[in-house]
Amino acid sequence: MMRRHRLTTHALSAALLLALGIASGQAAAASSDASVQLLPVEVTGASIIPRPVSVQPGNGHFVVDAGTRVIAADGSEEVAAQFTQLLARTTPLQLQVSPAGTSKGAIQFRLNRNASTDASEAYALRIDGNGVVVEAADTRGLFYGAMSLWQLLSATPAASATLPAMQVQDAPRFAWRGFMLDSARHFQNIDDIKLILDAMATHKLNTFHWHLTDDQGWRMEIKRYPKLTEVGACRAAAGEAGVGADGKPHLYCGYYTQEQIRDVVAYAAARHITVVPEVDVPGHAQAAVAAYPEHGVVDGPTLPSANWGVNPYLFNPRDETLQFLENILAEVLEMFPGQYIHIGGDEAVKYQWEASPQVQAYIRELGLKDEEALQSHMLKRLEKYLEDHGRKLIGWDEIIEGGLPPQATVMSWRGIQGGIEAATHGHDVVMAPGNTLYLDFLQTNLPDEPPGRPKFTSMQRVYAFDPVPSELTAAQRKHVIGVQANMWTEHTRSEEHLKHNVFPRLAALSEIAWTPLRNKSYDDFLARLPAQLQRYKALGIAYGQTALSVAMKRQDDRAGNKVTVELSNPLSYRDIRYTTDGSTPTAQSPAYPGALTLPVPTTLKAQAFFNGKPLADKPSQWNFDAASLLSRNDKTLAQCPTGGRLLLRLIDDNPLEGPRENFDVTIFNPCWLWEDAQLQDIASIKVRAGRIPYNFGLLREEEAKRGYRKPVARHGEFEVRAGCEGRVLASVPLPAQAGADGFIELEAPLRAGPEQISDLCMTFSGDTRPQMWVLNQVQLQPKK
Ligand code: ACM
Repeated sequence: MMRRHRLTTHALSAALLLALGIASGQAAAASSDASVQLLPVEVTGASIIPRPVSVQPGNGHFVVDAGTRVIAADGSEEVAAQFTQLLARTTPLQLQVSPAGTSKGAIQFRLNRNASTDASEAYALRIDGNGVVVEAADTRGLFYGAMSLWQLLSATPAASATLPAMQVQDAPRFAWRGFMLDSARHFQNIDDIKLILDAMATHKLNTFHWHLTDDQGWRMEIKRYPKLTEVGACRAAAGEAGVGADGKPHLYCGYYTQEQIRDVVAYAAARHITVVPEVDVPGHAQAAVAAYPEHGVVDGPTLPSANWGVNPYLFNPRDETLQFLENILAEVLEMFPGQYIHIGGDEAVKYQWEASPQVQAYIRELGLKDEEALQSHMLKRLEKYLEDHGRKLIGWDEIIEGGLPPQATVMSWRGIQGGIEAATHGHDVVMAPGNTLYLDFLQTNLPDEPPGRPKFTSMQRVYAFDPVPSELTAAQRKHVIGVQANMWTEHTRSEEHLKHNVFPRLAALSEIAWTPLRNKSYDDFLARLPAQLQRYKALGIAYGQTALSVAMKRQDDRAGNKVTVELSNPLSYRDIRYTTDGSTPTAQSPAYPGALTLPVPTTLKAQAFFNGKPLADKPSQWNFDAASLLSRNDKTLAQCPTGGRLLLRLIDDNPLEGPRENFDVTIFNPCWLWEDAQLQDIASIKVRAGRIPYNFGLLREEEAKRGYRKPVARHGEFEVRAGCEGRVLASVPLPAQAGADGFIELEAPLRAGPEQISDLCMTFSGDTRPQMWVLNQVQLQPKK
């Protein structure tokens, strides 16, 4: 019996089934092969993301094809032109806008200042047999109506599309619908940022928070202080790649000129997106202090950081530095016309201020209580500057400590508690909790997720978030002005990985931010998501495939001749098909029945389907053979409890160019755990390991947790214990360094003992700094 997702039967019209039925293969082909015949399709309102306030099906339909006129007058021309341009870019429909004419048989954009709803982002979209009308009281609402209509036409790009009659009434839940991009740790080119802005607009997101300054780079040209980018925009590439064969440093550089920034701001504004720049004060300041050491608090030169984590560099709190920051802000205000300026405030560990006699004297001189109050003193002054210039300060929730600037808006990232506290005291709040809305957390627990934080944040988790905490009163709730997802890029060097992490989770964010709570339904979202994936394809966005693929959990049989596997889709799509004959699964392949017991060897292929169409571009595949049953890697092993909580999936920072391996490692005390390994008939343990730079700045209390086993051999050893603290089962000395390919392979004989089954705890002894060994693969070798 095919186990269908329950929505397929009750929520979707036959029209959508047809639309989705044609969607995936055809859309992909459309962009690559113009000669492909595109079939006419029917679409339905059910697939709009974020889900609108109301969609009422009507009678009849309207066909959009090459002959369809688009009519716009009286201020709606620009939106109509944006609509036709986006449509032309993403579908075969090349429509012309005309200023007047009969609206019968046309798509009409109408700006109606007296429209029934006067909210500026609200719109109405009406489709019937006579045509389409998009209507709003304001250009912003009209634009969102255009985006909804574009969504209906772009899920299945076709030269002729039949739209079912419907009436959509729509308006956002929150005013701040944000996405943050960290361009400081790694740098993105302007075209990629514009593509993200395009995507944001189609999701009806309206706030682009641009993280432009940090310890590792200052990425915004400031004409008055050219060294900010001459010095601050370049850091040494981490690891051995940081120094070339000639002994000279290899630098990682990049910044945006004011002209480029203005271009991005204008591009965003045309899409009704406000860009909120961040200038992080007083911490995350190392790149700025490297450029202008006189505005730091330590003697002597420093460089932009090549370390991730929390670095100690702070701005000087004195007036000269506040003046310097105000001069920077003066140029920032010229470039960024939006209401809000983000002043950071996060993770400013106060070691340097505590250690500085001058800063301590200054605290006494100002009559302040402590370093937190000094931070507040700086932020209040910058707030006054912003207020005097008609702007508003927003900062991370640490700005609460030491006293909030009077008008400040708080961005709550350390959970929602800071947001609750700020709202309780009458401050506006944007919710961006790290444990739910940080997109550098992987989206699944699958081994093929790119580097990031493996404690994953699933689509379900993002979707389930409600930015308005129940403990707030009705009056306090009004202070929750919105919600934002943040994409930090320490571990995200490439555009490919960036898009993987952002998409499709951005779709869930948009629904949290826009859709009324009563309309939110994860099941309904899943039914609309396949259409959204086709829109990503149409836009040229290589979204992450992992969440659409099939996850496998396996249990090996003791005797080693069979394996029991459980399959699931990370997003909870339930129709999973599989094959064991090497063929690609189709909608007609056997449905996964709940668990599979397979003989060894077997090649298993599986694919998740929705309405008969595969969700991922490729099936998932596993080869179970005798060797694979005796093999694990860093992605499939657990971590020892002694490893601490900070598990990272780190890219190998060593190579300057070319492909890079990545490794799951608990950086405080790296160790890998193979639970319940079966050791009878095992002669030795083979390991493949890499060596990567340890490049983390840590808080003192975190640094104290960093540990490693003391080495015995000159360069340490690879050691396997029975459990984390048990007897040594195997040990082999390590070489001085990795081979030319960055890896070593070692084999350690298993010492005789009573254990038949044991947890294998695997470590490399020796200091993890400046380079640490990281496990890649481990293989149990049977006795001959
Ligand atoms: C932050 O994640 N440090 C705001």
